[in-house]
Amino acid sequence: MRTERVLSIDDLAEAARRRLPPSIHGYVSGGSEDHVSLEANRAAFRRWRFLTRPLVDVSKRSQAIDLFGAAYASPVGIAPMGVSGLCCFDGDVALARAAAKAGVPSVLSAASTVPLELVMREAPGTWYQAYLPAQHAVIDPLLERLKAAGVGVLVITVDVQIASVRENELRNGFSIPLRFTPRLMAGGLMRPRWMVETFARTLWKQGIPRFENFTATRGGRIITAAKGDHRAGRAAMTWDELARIRERWPGRLLVKGLLRPEDARAAQRIGADGIFVSNHGGRQLDGAVAPLDVLPAMVAAAPQLTVLLDGGVRRGTDVLKALALGARAVFVGRPAMYGLAAGGEAGATHALALLRREIDTDLALLGCADVRQLGPDWLVRDDRLPLQ
Ligand code: FNR
Repeated sequence: MRTERVLSIDDLAEAARRRLPPSIHGYVSGGSEDHVSLEANRAAFRRWRFLTRPLVDVSKRSQAIDLFGAAYASPVGIAPMGVSGLCCFDGDVALARAAAKAGVPSVLSAASTVPLELVMREAPGTWYQAYLPAQHAVIDPLLERLKAAGVGVLVITVDVQIASVRENELRNGFSIPLRFTPRLMAGGLMRPRWMVETFARTLWKQGIPRFENFTATRGGRIITAAKGDHRAGRAAMTWDELARIRERWPGRLLVKGLLRPEDARAAQRIGADGIFVSNHGGRQLDGAVAPLDVLPAMVAAAPQLTVLLDGGVRRGTDVLKALALGARAVFVGRPAMYGLAAGGEAGATHALALLRREIDTDLALLGCADVRQLGPDWLVRDDRLPLQ
């Protein structure tokens, strides 16, 4: 990838489209059903406009933030994404390393294919995202495994009670675990570079990718009840179960996938440290509200929580809008995955660098020297403005 030609996250998305077999590109870029939430996530940002403030000294600018006792260089982290190894060999490690080198947080997905201990060695400080069934025989050994690996921040995603309907994946014959359908192989032949650098290399070095981190393992063998069906029991997860996890987990605990103020309050009540206001990037319930639209109400409902947001962030201006509306930091999913697909670790680094550079420019033009000074007074909402 020639990074000097990739000037925006949209350019990176196009570069990724040219690199990936169509079925894998569809998995990354697509959403559920009619893409209502996917599109709403972008539209929500366009409804806010800045009230700029010139004639203040912005010659020195800072986008550094603190989160959970750690200092980060920028308020944009990498959200958890499953099977990133489909976009690049060792994708989980590449994403975590790119984030660590940029000084920003990243979250290893439960649906990852590199053992979490290895990712933690390569990029200490990486957060871990769990999908948990309401089964103590699964939860408790996993918590022990995470503690032993030095995980400090545990994110529990709660908006995947069951799999959503993503028609592009059904049409393309895409499934997880990956099936070697004629369609996938034909798509791969159209993308020889992906066939060699990602597909063949992964098969050669690791064999068929396996989910390594859903649960606890000993000596490479899964030792818990989740052996048969990782998804079993997830639909039975409740606040009571989360409260029990809170008692057993000494590190930071975040809940990902909340959109209602009363749920922000519930997270605060059980002693969570933070929440991700998120609709899973428009990949779960189609028609779920855009996170940005409920952000101020979520922040107001749970003042003790660190509120994070993901979904639809593609520009530095989006980051500033979310921060102005009360998010402490935002996370990007697809932008990092597009970078990974287009250029491996360097591509993910480029995605973060583009956003970092845009934030710096936007701060100067806004007339705000430090992201920590952002608040709602920097914005005006105008619903009469066209959405596109
Ligand atoms: C995701 N997301 C996700 N979330 C999660 O908690 N666990 C996971 O395993 C995954 N997997 C996943 C795969 C892919 C390909 C994508 C694009 C997304 C959702 C992710 O963490 C985040 O909520 C959204 O991606 C944010 O929206 P944007 O930035 O992609 O618009």
